Amino acid sequence: MIVINHINTLRQLLNRHREMGHKIGFVPTMGNLHNGHLSLVEVAKQHSDIVVVSIFVNPTQFGPNEDFDAYPRTLERDCEMLEQQGSDIVFAPEVSEVYPKWPNLTSVRVEELGKNHCGSSRAGHFDGVATVVSKLFNMVRPDLAVFGQKDFQQLAIIRRMVLDLNFDIDIIGAPIIRENNGLAMSSRNGYLSEQEKEQASYIQQTLQWAKHQIEQGTTDYRQLEQQASDRLNDNGFKTDYFNIARQDDLEPAQANDAKLVILVAAFMGKVRLIDNLEINK
Ligand code: PAF
Repeated sequence: MIVINHINTLRQLLNRHREMGHKIGFVPTMGNLHNGHLSLVEVAKQHSDIVVVSIFVNPTQFGPNEDFDAYPRTLERDCEMLEQQGSDIVFAPEVSEVYPKWPNLTSVRVEELGKNHCGSSRAGHFDGVATVVSKLFNMVRPDLAVFGQKDFQQLAIIRRMVLDLNFDIDIIGAPIIRENNGLAMSSRNGYLSEQEKEQASYIQQTLQWAKHQIEQGTTDYRQLEQQASDRLNDNGFKTDYFNIARQDDLEPAQANDAKLVILVAAFMGKVRLIDNLEINK
């Protein structure tokens, strides 16, 4: 496995692979890797000859009061895990390499899909994500890229951006990987104590409870959202949102919609956790 810090070196190496007819798979990450990320690498391996994993904590997707400075940088450990998993190339650029002139004046915004859910509580977050992912796509020029379904809204935004900007890249969504108790794996779980991790499994239980209500015929989704938020608040969380939306445009679901997704973000102390559950009626 090769670790590369500079765009030019990466481009030269990947051009050689392209000349050899190799299919390039890409997994963008912010590092601090866990088994969820490794599962994305595994999916990329299944669909390509060469797997590139980027590790870059992207400043433009963090709000002023978020954890950019505190975000764990664990490059050495990440590289060990990726080598064991069979990644070929790790691309770990500096901020100055990705954003050569600061602040960047060009930004990518996927209008409607980014406005609700995490978009309304984290102003500018998805602009930062769409911008850095476009930049990384221009650096790596992969044939395919793998993103986790845990970030359901992010995945929808990337899919739409690829369509709107004519990127010639297949986007693959990989299933959520969970701890034994149902808690979705996330780099931010590292901020939780063991007891909080146990408690945090209540997010998944609440999603399952809401799904059950819908399967039993509940169609007043706004009331159900409120009830689920209350359940979370009564069990140690501060709910940011609990939204029942349509899978395709992420707008609030109505009674006759068939393809739904429940999206949730809730704080356990200072740690913001997200999860989701798709329902096909
Ligand atoms: O999902 C993430 O880890 C990040 O949002 C991504 C896609 C690597 C962009 O910085």
